Amino acid sequence: MTATAWHNPLRDPRDRRLPRIAGPSGLVIFGVTGDLSRKKLMPAVYDLANRGLLPPGFSLLGFARREWEDQDFAEVVHDAVREHARTPFREEVWQQLADGMRFIPGDFDDDTAFEQLRDAVDELDDKRGTSGNYAFYLSVPPKFFPKVVEQLKKHGLADAPEGSWRRAVIEKPFGHDLKSAQELNRIVHEVFAPDQVFRIDHYLGKETVQNILALRFANQMYEPVWNRSYVDHVQITMAEDIGIGGRAGYYDGIGAARDVIQNHLLQLMALTAMEEPASFDAASLVTEKLKVLKSVRLPADLERSTVRAQYAAGWQGGERVRGYLQEDGIDPRSTTDTYAAVKLEVDNRRWAGVPFYLRTGKRLGRRVTEIAVVFQRAPHSPFDSTATEELGQNAIVIRVQPDEGMTVRFGSKVPGTSMEIRDVSMDFAYGESFTESSPEAYERLILDVLLGDANLFPRTEEVEESWRILDPVEEHWDTLGRPAQYASGSWGPEEADEMLARDGRSWRRP
Ligand SMILES: NC(=O)c1ccc[n+]([C@@H]2O[C@H](COP(=O)([O-])OP(=O)(O)OC[C@H]3O[C@@H](n4cnc5c(N)ncnc54)[C@H](OP(=O)(O)O)[C@@H]3O)[C@@H](O)[C@H]2O)c1
Repeated sequence: MTATAWHNPLRDPRDRRLPRIAGPSGLVIFGVTGDLSRKKLMPAVYDLANRGLLPPGFSLLGFARREWEDQDFAEVVHDAVREHARTPFREEVWQQLADGMRFIPGDFDDDTAFEQLRDAVDELDDKRGTSGNYAFYLSVPPKFFPKVVEQLKKHGLADAPEGSWRRAVIEKPFGHDLKSAQELNRIVHEVFAPDQVFRIDHYLGKETVQNILALRFANQMYEPVWNRSYVDHVQITMAEDIGIGGRAGYYDGIGAARDVIQNHLLQLMALTAMEEPASFDAASLVTEKLKVLKSVRLPADLERSTVRAQYAAGWQGGERVRGYLQEDGIDPRSTTDTYAAVKLEVDNRRWAGVPFYLRTGKRLGRRVTEIAVVFQRAPHSPFDSTATEELGQNAIVIRVQPDEGMTVRFGSKVPGTSMEIRDVSMDFAYGESFTESSPEAYERLILDVLLGDANLFPRTEEVEESWRILDPVEEHWDTLGRPAQYASGSWGPEEADEMLARDGRSWRRP
């Protein structure tokens, strides 16, 4: 017997079952007083610390305009953690984390504040052994991305001292269209090399999204039917039941398609449609996702294959809610889409002729994100049509959120009838199959940044390809008059139902 046969896989550092623990490092959050930081980033940092995945000297630095001392900052983080963290509060974990917290007050234009930040970084290197390893998280309004990157360069923060690393994490939206995304990429890459840049698409941090790869490539039963010979069409939905809340300034002028389709839904589509990657490293994954995005074609007739709309007043959760144009801060003449649906084709051998319908909207019937792969009907049925009246098409539905899992829908004989066939479903639910609860997407993504693992971050080319797909749709919508309206709490505008009805199909009502 060879030595390798006795090799204990639990001792192998490449073993993916082992927890991955970040090395000495710190995280600087720009825009740390903002909504995203309080609700997602601060709690994620605490949860990582609580799971023992951060190094003991880990340091968290915040940057924003408030005149806060370190102590005020620590209190805000404390409150955010108590309110939003996933794991239980433990005083000793909190204390260790709080000792490494610093706050730098300042405007992004303020050179003195960036000098102060550099001093704080040096001080923490000395005191807490962060070893010069820092990630800069730009959780700031997108118009400030170039300014912050430029300031990091100017004050020597982007240059890693010998033997250490510096990384930039950039929130979405990455650009407004292809041209602005290319310009932003140019600015960012003047300062940071491609492997130093981590663009956030938090959907990729979700367990259910990573599971698409496990489902497809670790099993034998799905892949043989995952193609044009068996699949009729694919529907990818991200529905929200909330309106724009207080985010008028961010949302108006951007809209549903730019906010959700350009990034989250096209990434889900790429993972659903791609070929098996040569391995699971970042380069191989990007290669395959990019091949799909490059093969995506919009139908020639955008009038009939895209829909945009705005929510009108209506009832939701038993409450009367306002329409989009009546929301605070929205121009009553706004044409911004709060609902968007597009039909896309993938011009390759696997998918030719199989439409991918992508839709997203606010104030829809229910909060749900899912990918439904809908199969063709059986080519021949030995049953008469009355037996199969209530039989739909077979489907595999990946439930991304909130009720994480997967459903397989198929026909089954109704007991007691001579032969009546009806749809039934077989369910896999994370909550029932696993005892571990799923980490939040931001936990996974922040840890990956600290480890330098780029698998779950879209690269330059993917972002630009996604804008190439969406730009003609937005340009077409710009030539139209007022968007269609749909009642809040409904499943979107009639035009979207008509779009699918023309193809002899209908949207799922999840
Ligand atoms: N909120 C979400 O759920 C969400 C989801 C996905 C992506 N994102 C993205 O995440 C980023 C942050 O979003 P957010 O909702 O957290 O934004 P936000 O609530 O508006 O916060 C913006 C932050 O930037 C700071 N800031 C603004 N102007 C500044 C300036 N001139 N100098 C220094 N600091 C300045 C603000 O701090 P002070 O006012 O205290 O200075 C605040 O901390 C955006 O890119 C957004 O698109 C957000």
